[in-house]
Amino acid sequence: MLRRDIDSRVVPDDRVFDPGSKHGNKAAHIDANVVAVNIELQPIHKGLAYVRADGFPLPFQADTFDYVSCCQVFEYIPQTRAFVAEISRVLKPEGAAFLDLPNRLFPDRPHSPPGYYSLLPRPLGLRLAQSLLDSDQERYYRDYVYNLSPVIARRAVHAHFESVEYVTPRQKVAYRPIFLGDVDDLVYTLGKGTKVFAKLLLLITLLTRFPPAGWLFELLYPHAAYECREPSRGCKR
Ligand SMILES: C[S@@+](CC[C@H](N)C(=O)[O-])C[C@H]1O[C@@H](n2cnc3c(N)ncnc32)[C@H](O)[C@@H]1O
Repeated sequence: MLRRDIDSRVVPDDRVFDPGSKHGNKAAHIDANVVAVNIELQPIHKGLAYVRADGFPLPFQADTFDYVSCCQVFEYIPQTRAFVAEISRVLKPEGAAFLDLPNRLFPDRPHSPPGYYSLLPRPLGLRLAQSLLDSDQERYYRDYVYNLSPVIARRAVHAHFESVEYVTPRQKVAYRPIFLGDVDDLVYTLGKGTKVFAKLLLLITLLTRFPPAGWLFELLYPHAAYECREPSRGCKR
């Protein structure tokens, strides 16, 4: 999760919502009033308000939260668009959401050994999973992995948010209509890596400013992340 982004967006009085929080380990670091929602309650952090709920409909009124941080949950919810619609509904005008999801097209991902199955067309991948994997792994493929790709996620976020920025790695680019970079944020990203990684990242980030390379990069990067913003009051759908 891009901590600096969230820290710069929220102030301690803000209401932040973390759907699919699990224990709330990520949300616990956000300095604000954080509500951690999960389908099964797993509370361990004293500072968080835990709510047991399904992803939709969310048990909150419209325009309740200033910020939503939702990491690694989308693959569990087949109704991607309905879930994004709920996140948008509970956000206040000018609120923002950070949405982070695994990429089924990246061959080496957690939870899903062996990852290359997810690169196969669904019928073939599922048939292989059925004959070669144990029942838990097979269920993960059947129920979760095939739900999602960055393409599906991107369509869903664009359907419900006015402004969507692709943020993996931090490119500071409006994803649509064209990649236009902002060098400031590159500096932060580069500062975190080793020298070789930093140079590679610089090259990749520069390349991704060209739309075809950006699309390819998004398809192959292990995680896709989007920062989505609501329009101002009166313009919210
Ligand atoms: C991979 S964990 C991610 C946990 C946390 N967001 C993180 O990044 O560390 C996915 C979580 O989503 C929860 N979940 C799955 N379906 C859900 C639903 N329909 N509504 C709310 N939470 C759900 C699961 O119980 C699980 O705790």
